[in-house]
Order: sequence, then C-alpha cells, then structure tokens
Amino acid sequence: MLEATGVAAGYGRKRIVHGVDLAVGKGEIVLVLGHNGAGKTTLMRTLFGLLPAAEGTIRYEGRDIAGRRPAENVADGIAFIPQGHGIFRTLSVRDNLDLGAFVEPDKSLLPERLDTVFRMFPILKERASQIGGTLSGGQQQMLAIGMALMHAPRLVILDEPSIGLAPNLVDKVMEAIAYINRTMGTTILMVEQNVKYSLPIASRVAVLKTGRKIYDGPPDPLHDRVELMKLF
Ligand SMILES: Nc1ncnc2c1ncn2[C@@H]1O[C@H](COP(=O)(O)OP(=O)(O)OP(=O)(O)O)[C@@H](O)[C@H]1O
Ligand SMILES: [Mg+2]
Repeated sequence: MLEATGVAAGYGRKRIVHGVDLAVGKGEIVLVLGHNGAGKTTLMRTLFGLLPAAEGTIRYEGRDIAGRRPAENVADGIAFIPQGHGIFRTLSVRDNLDLGAFVEPDKSLLPERLDTVFRMFPILKERASQIGGTLSGGQQQMLAIGMALMHAPRLVILDEPSIGLAPNLVDKVMEAIAYINRTMGTTILMVEQNVKYSLPIASRVAVLKTGRKIYDGPPDPLHDRVELMKLF
C-alpha cells in the first residue's frame, strides 16, 4: 500500500533520515520504534508530505506521491495523527469530528461515520459539546483518532499515540487501533515507544537508529527484552 525507497530527509542542510526503505502492506499494522531523536517523526512527516524528501521515492497504492501536498494525501485516503494529537483545542468535540470530515465530498455518508466513531468511543458522544482542549489526554487521543476516521482513510499514520497517557489508557488506545484495523481493514503505520502495548498488535516492526533502519521484521523476536535492547 505504501512503499518508500531510499528516503532521505531533514531540515535545511541537516540530514536526519538517511536512505530508509519502508513498505507497508495492505491490512498491516507496521510499528516504527527508535530512540528519542532517531528521526521517526521526521520520516512520518516526509511520507505524509509535510516535509520534502531530499532523496528517494514514495509510492502509495502504486502512485508516486513524493512532493504531493498533505491535503491531497488526505483526500486520497491517508490520515496523519501527529505527535501531540492535532485536535482543535478551542473547538467542541462535535466540531472537531465535523472538521475531520472536511475532505469528504459526499456529506450524506457522515451521520453513519459519526455513529461508528461514537460507538467506538462512547465518551466522545457523552462529551460532544465539551471543548477539545479540556478533555483528558486519553480522551484527546480518542478524538484525534475519531477525527481521522471521519474521512474513512485507507491508511492511518500515527505518531506516538500513547505519549503522556497512563498505562490503562495506552492499552485502550492500542485496542482501538487494533479494532479499527481488524473491523475496517484500515492499514496502520504507527510510531510508538511503548513496546509493551504496541508490539502485541503489530504485524511488523521497523527500528530506526540515528535516521537509519536497523531492523525490519516480525515483532516476535523483540518480545525478548535482550533482543530488543540489542537494537537500541
Ligand atoms: N523543525 C526542525 N528543525 C531542525 N531540527 C529538527 C526539527 N525537528 C526535529 N529536528 C531534529 O531532528 C532529529 C530527529 O527528530 P524527530 O522528531 O524526527 O525524532 P523522533 O524519533 O520522532 O524523536 P521522539 O521520539 O523524541 O519523538 C532531532 O535531532 C531533532 O532535534
Ligand atoms: Mg517523534
């Protein structure tokens, strides 16, 4: 579904990501791990079109999308949930969800999608008129995922959805991501540091170290702490 080859990116003259190959198959949950500052966010932003790729190719469903604007990617079925949620903090839950669907030309599809989001996250229905910024961290993350689902994406890119959440909420967020993948067939590319909760739902793992990919394979060997530590 997504195939990045030899992608290099950075800021100004400073290269952060060096020649990374990353493939995400339809229906997979691909987990990207790596230290703080390894370049995970930089890579995700590049794949989504928020940063230009200095080198390499990025293909989505067979089409070359390198250099395409984020808005075009959203309209083409890619959702990006940035590190730190990316909700509109001054708007209500309901308004946030409506904005999540702004690229959907067929508005008649929206009531059913809103129903689906509310069924998945009943707390959002209860809090529909509450201002986004006043939700708890976990609720804000649910809202960010709900917004993404409002335009029925085929690929969702999440950057550290569990950051700042209590362990019981991390578990809930990972469960929601696995549920979306399982029931809607949505392909997931996710950066996470919380291996305890993210490894169990991953179909494949890529590990970045100082901007280079040093592991790409099944999650199973990484359940062993020693094996995992070797990569860090
Ligand atoms: N806008 C920017 N301008 C210059 N340097 C940046 C910018 N954003 C990030 N960097 C640098 O790029 C490197 C990689 O950052 P990036 O955010 O991609 O890492 P990360 O793997 O997502 O880390 P974390 O786990 O802390 O989120 C860091 O050294 C960071 O300081
Ligand atoms: Mg990051």
